[in-house]
Amino acid sequence: MLFFIDTADVEEIRQANDMGLVDGVTTNPSLVAKTGRPFKEVIQEICEIVDGPISAEAVSLTYDEMLAEARSLASIHPNIVVKIPLVPDGLRCVRTCAQEGIRTNVTLCFSATQALLAAKAGATYISPFVGRLDDISHQGMDLIGEILEIYTAYDFDTQVLVASIRNPLHVLEAARMGAHVATIPLKVMLQLVRHPLTDRGIEAFMKDWEKVPS
Ligand code: E4P
Repeated sequence: MLFFIDTADVEEIRQANDMGLVDGVTTNPSLVAKTGRPFKEVIQEICEIVDGPISAEAVSLTYDEMLAEARSLASIHPNIVVKIPLVPDGLRCVRTCAQEGIRTNVTLCFSATQALLAAKAGATYISPFVGRLDDISHQGMDLIGEILEIYTAYDFDTQVLVASIRNPLHVLEAARMGAHVATIPLKVMLQLVRHPLTDRGIEAFMKDWEKVPS
């Protein structure tokens, strides 16, 4: 399973990248707003740090505007993947992008039937938001299972990118289900690293090491 980092904060990206945990990056308008920096500047800097797919979100809502935005974002760097919301004009835009060789990440997916439509339109990635489903008392990870089942049955090329990950169990379940990608906030990546028995083991080894004669 590929690890993308879900942030627009370049310091977080550098930190995770230095640990070898970054195969790609996903951003969204809220994450970019948190940085307080201009969108294009942030995206360009991310492209310099990470050599992998970088999702940059289109913020238009009509087909013509979305497509113009997709073309402009894709021209920033060959690693850019254009994030497009799962609405009718978005699917139309995904189809045209696929015909033009522009990679897309269809975002804000909350049902398996939406994911089926995205795959039929030619999406490179589908982003089901598991945490936001959990937030409204739906089992977010059940959706991942349903999408993987459908995509496997029909041999779609669209990759399942598990998004809105909030805790280590989301990552564990995504990996066990065979999701292609998990996009993970730095906080959760660090939670995955830590284990109390590792810390306790290091402490004991350090103490015993002091007893070893020099
Ligand atoms: C990723 O592509 C999404 O934008 C992100 O995972 C959303 O996460 P959130 O639901 O925690 O905002």
